[in-house]
Parts: sequence; structure tokens; C-alpha cells
Amino acid sequence: MARQAGKQSYGRLALVSCLALLAVGLIADFLWASSHRFSPAGTYLPSSFTTVIGKLPPESNEKDTKQNKKKDDKTRERKLSDTFQDLDAPQLQWEKMAPAPVPRLDGAAIQIRNLLYVFAGYGNINLVHSHVDIYNFVDNTWGGRFDMPKEMAHSHLGMVTDGRYIYIVTGQYGPQCRGPTAKTFVLDTDTNTWSDFIPLPVPRYAPATQLWRGRLHVMGGSKENRHTPGLEHWSIAVKDGKALEKEWRSEIPIPRGGPHRACVVVDDRLFVIGGQEGDFMAKPGSPIFKCSRRLEVVFSDVYMLDEEMKWKVMPPMPKPDSHIEFAWKVVNNSIVIVGGTTEKHPETKKMVLVGEIFQFNLNTMKWYVIGKLPYRVKTTLAGYWDGQLYFTSGQRDKGPDDPAPRKVMAEMWRTKLILYP
Ligand SMILES: *[C@@H]1O[C@H](CO)[C@@H](O)[C@H](O)[C@H]1NC(C)=O
Repeated sequence: MARQAGKQSYGRLALVSCLALLAVGLIADFLWASSHRFSPAGTYLPSSFTTVIGKLPPESNEKDTKQNKKKDDKTRERKLSDTFQDLDAPQLQWEKMAPAPVPRLDGAAIQIRNLLYVFAGYGNINLVHSHVDIYNFVDNTWGGRFDMPKEMAHSHLGMVTDGRYIYIVTGQYGPQCRGPTAKTFVLDTDTNTWSDFIPLPVPRYAPATQLWRGRLHVMGGSKENRHTPGLEHWSIAVKDGKALEKEWRSEIPIPRGGPHRACVVVDDRLFVIGGQEGDFMAKPGSPIFKCSRRLEVVFSDVYMLDEEMKWKVMPPMPKPDSHIEFAWKVVNNSIVIVGGTTEKHPETKKMVLVGEIFQFNLNTMKWYVIGKLPYRVKTTLAGYWDGQLYFTSGQRDKGPDDPAPRKVMAEMWRTKLILYP
């Protein structure tokens, strides 16, 4: 489109292109994870958009006025490779371990000592899992499969443990782009038995969830339509898998809503890291709630809550990062985050996966990029044992030159974790 425009005003061209894109966004709906044809859509245009849309004009510039020259400089094409978001990072030695019994996208995981409990998730866009698999870091085997309650959500769960009881809050019920349920459960990992818990006041999709100061906190996520960011924040006092209060209470709203963030408590401070606003929605009227792309805004924001109960802004991540709710570990007073998704490609609008490992050192409050993954991957489930960082599951890229999402994975990998002191 831009190439044919020749010497036309690039400002006007950008406007026309924007309108065309808008139209595409309004009339099109898109296949989701299972599709290889992730296409541009939607009505959100990143601020960088107009600076990248203009291609270099043809080489017939002799009669250009000064004014035109100035415009050309401004709109000069910035060559954007498909891999433009990749950051320099050390190569690591990765070791392939036993794959999980099933591939999983948007699952959940909790590590308790040497066991990684891996829950739910999509096998593919039309199939969701309703069971738990367990990886044992001591003998590096999978086993111990057991079912989840029938009413429990199958993806986009909020989940946290006190070391024995796992709290499982709300999440999406069913495949494709169905909405969330408010139903909430507790798993006793000593006996592998489930109990019901007080439902969240309203359903949420992929909310940030943590235990902090004796209370179960749930905040952010998307509202029932999967797309609209929720800002609400609730908590309830808990002990040994039981609520000590009759209902959830409202807490200070989160500064920025939305799903798919890491929520971590270290040293009596609660951190909310990365995430996004917006997500795929069910196509209106679709009997199967068919997923339809809506544009998301991915962010690098980090917020912290301490005893003052006021949100504080922390140094941002090295790049925007989302789909990391179970992709983190705390090691030696650092938060380590594995993969994710970043801002969409500005030209193709395709989703861009993240292939780096990040470290947030809480001694220095500095972020580092500490290594490259075997491939870019989102919604990984991370573990740490005996000096080794593990990850399994998620959806990987199409290949080294194409960071768009493709295959849902079962693989398990590990590498020696090397941190910045
Ligand atoms: C964590 O700290 C301990 C004690 O200083 C050290 O031996 C270990 O190597 C550190 N682990 C990592 C991954 O840096």
C-alpha cells in the first residue's frame, strides 16, 4: 500500500492506512492459538505506528523541495525485522527433560518442595484439561495424575500456595473464549483432596493472586467478557485452607487492570509485574464462543504494595511482558521470569513471543536479561530445584525468524541458573 504512494504526503498516507486497518479490524475475526494465520486486526494503534508505516519513496527525489525532504526524513522507513523485539542475552546450556503427559497452554503451576503441580490448560483451542499432573524434580519424572473438580475453571486461573494448601481462584470455564467462573477451591496437597471456598464476588479472568499477611489477595484480571480490564482488588483472611471471614473485602484497586501478570510476594512486599490490557473475546453470537482477536496492550509496569497499603511504581521490565502468571520463581532475593508475550509487531500486528529470561534483583531493584530460552514461549510453567531453572508447557514460536505463536508444548527443559548478584 505504502509503496504505491510515491511522492504523496506521508501524513495523509498514514491516516488512510490507519483507517484501512481500522476497517480490517472491524470486519475481520480471527482464528486463535491453533491458527497459523495470525492476522492484524482491531482498532488500537501503537504510538510508534505512524513512524514505521512510511516506506522510503522511490529514488526520484531530485525535484523535491526542502519541505518534502524534511518529511521524508521524518517518515524514513525503519527496517523492522520480525524479530525486532528480541534482546541480547547470554546463550545458556539447555537440557531437555521428560515431556509432560499433555501439552498445555494457559495452564497453572505451583511448586511445593520437589514437586511441580501442573493444572488445567488448553490442549488445543477446542479442548481443555481438567486434571493435575505432577513433576518430581528429584527423579525427574511425571506422575500422580488426578482429576480437578468438575466446576473448576480450566484455564486463566488465579493460584497460590502456603506450602501445603493451594488456593484456586476463578478463571475461564471451558474451551475457546468462554467466560470466567467465580467458583474457587482449595487443594490439600498432603491428601490430594479438594474443598470448596467462598466464590470471588464476581468472576475474573487471569487475575493476579497471592497470599500476603495472612490474607488471600485477588486483583486485576479481565472482566467477564475476557477483554475489559478489571481494577478491583479483594482479600479474605485464610488459614490452613479455610476462610477465617464470611466474605471477601474490597482493597485498594490496582493502578492498571488486566490479565496475565506475575504476582509475587517477597520479604513482606507484594509485586505485580507486566501483563496486558485486553485479550481475545468470544465472537458475538458464536455458539462455541469462538475466539476472536481483539488487540491488547502489553506493558512492562511493575507495582509494589507494602505495609503502607499504597501502590508504588517500581523500575519497569526490560520490555513489555505478559502471559507470565506462572512463569516466575524467587531465588536468592531475585524474581526470575521466563518468556511471555510482548507488544505486537507494529507492521504485521502479529503477536510477538518472548525468548528471554529476566531477573529483578530486589537487593539492587535492577532488572537484567540473564539468558536465552531454547525458543520464544508464552504461559510457561516454571520451577527451580537444586540450582536448575525448569520450564514446561506453553505455546512456542514458529521458529527463530518468526516470533508469532504456533505449537502448544509439553516439553520440559532445564538450565543452570546464573544470577546477577
Ligand atoms: C544463591 O545464594 C547461595 C548462597 O550465597 C549461592 O551458593 C547460590 O549459588 C546462589 N544461587 C544462585 C542461582 O545464584
